[in-house]
Amino acid sequence: MADEVCIPVSSEIDIVTARQKGREMASRLGFSNTDLVLIATAISEVVRNIVEYAKKGELCLNILQEGGKSGIVVIARDKGPGIPNIKLAMQDGYTTGHSLGLGLPGAKRLMDEFEIISEVGKGTTVTMKKWVQNNG
Ligand SMILES: Nc1ncnc2c1ncn2[C@@H]1O[C@H](COP(=O)(O)OP(=O)(O)OP(=O)(O)O)[C@@H](O)[C@H]1O
Ligand SMILES: [Mg+2]
Repeated sequence: MADEVCIPVSSEIDIVTARQKGREMASRLGFSNTDLVLIATAISEVVRNIVEYAKKGELCLNILQEGGKSGIVVIARDKGPGIPNIKLAMQDGYTTGHSLGLGLPGAKRLMDEFEIISEVGKGTTVTMKKWVQNNG
């Protein structure tokens, strides 16, 4: 597996592929089994949002290496409608669909770092990072 992997996203099936690829990369990096589940869940949420709100986009995975620490960076990108109010979208229970409105705030809690850049009419990019816990 290369250091960067991008998965095109356009349907529900791609959620499964993105989860699997994320899990595979995170596993290689030495994340705990618990963290593998958390990372896969966060990936599912941002990929599901692409399918639901932007119809298509991509999910890219990268390895992070920084001063002896390693981790994973997950980037979900689309050229969909964008998010008018990010602060609102990040609140638990806020949804413009008929859902729970927990996807974005949930994903933020599951990862170590979380950033959304979005412009109405241009699209949305969510960048999330998680570091391998060093128990040595
Ligand atoms: N990629 C995106 N493009 C456009 N709008 C988005 C995107 N992702 C999220 N949103 C907007 O942000 C809102 C909140 O997203 P979030 O994932 O937290 O909840 P949800 O998708 O509505 O419900 P849940 O994820 O719990 O099923 C969405 O209802 C939608 O309006
Ligand atoms: Mg969602």
